[in-house]
Amino acid sequence: MFRTRRLRANAGIRNMVRETRISKDALIYPMFFEDGENIFEEIESMPGQYRMSIDRCDSVIEELLDAGVSAVMLFGIPKHKDEVGSEAYHDHGIVQEAIRYIKKKYPGIYVIGDVCMCEYTSHGHCGILNGSDVDNDTTIKYLAKIALSQVEAGADMVAPSDMMDGRVEEIRAILDDKGYKNIPIMAYSAKYASAFYGPFRAAADSAPAFGDRKSYQMDVHNSREALKEVEEDILEGADIVMVKPAMSFLDIVTKVKEITNVPVAAYSVSGEYAMVKSAANNGFIDEEKIMCEMAVSAFRAGADIYITYYAKELAKCIDKGI
Ligand code: PBG
Ligand code: ZN
Repeated sequence: MFRTRRLRANAGIRNMVRETRISKDALIYPMFFEDGENIFEEIESMPGQYRMSIDRCDSVIEELLDAGVSAVMLFGIPKHKDEVGSEAYHDHGIVQEAIRYIKKKYPGIYVIGDVCMCEYTSHGHCGILNGSDVDNDTTIKYLAKIALSQVEAGADMVAPSDMMDGRVEEIRAILDDKGYKNIPIMAYSAKYASAFYGPFRAAADSAPAFGDRKSYQMDVHNSREALKEVEEDILEGADIVMVKPAMSFLDIVTKVKEITNVPVAAYSVSGEYAMVKSAANNGFIDEEKIMCEMAVSAFRAGADIYITYYAKELAKCIDKGI
């Protein structure tokens, strides 16, 4: 009889034949920076996550470093919002200043700038409006400006999350033109119009004032379309492609992995975090085990990189042996 249980008999053999191994190097932690001073405000729908001003970020970064996580992705919450999201590409915008601060004080941290407009526009959409529609071709010019301003501030990588067509090409062109040929672009390529972003939008104050994002983010019913998005982004110059959200979209992670030879990132989004936290806080689930299982499943599905609000806790579990 073939006995599958032979290789499950004890931890020694189970660990030896493990197909998925997780490394802290593959984790990215998202952070929310708010204009102002002495702000360290817990996000209601994401207990344990904070909106912070730059002067209060040290403890968070030091804890990450202690745990062995060295990559962060930054989101900004500006004081001032307008129709064209001008704080998003301002030299001294909140994200640009946060990048400068972190790179100066913690040069070992790899800093990624999220490139989008929704946190910065008064209407909360991810681009420049023409009537009630986001104007694609105008928006990508702005996105390129945002990316450039982040890189000029010292960002190691930029990650456009807007889902406009042609934005990777536009960003690549401006970065190359300004001499930033070696700065990679991680494209949110297969980003779905998902309800899982709810807590993030409350946190970043970026919910659209009218309508939804279905005219630019992907329809959750589609998967072949995700491959089209990925192919196009790679042709345009994406160095890494992302699938987002993670947990309900692991089939997409696997399919994307099969057709690409660039690294694939999966973003375990705010709604995933909020669900685990609230169930755990009610005593309904084992937070640590669930969090680890979700991470393992993303890597098993094919993710090379995992973006998660649990980065620090996961790193500690990796030390203990997940
Ligand atoms: C901005 C952006 C969003 C997220 C990352 N970048 C929200 C959205 O598209 O509405 C979601 C992250 C999360 O939910 O954790 N475009
Ligand atoms: Zn956006």
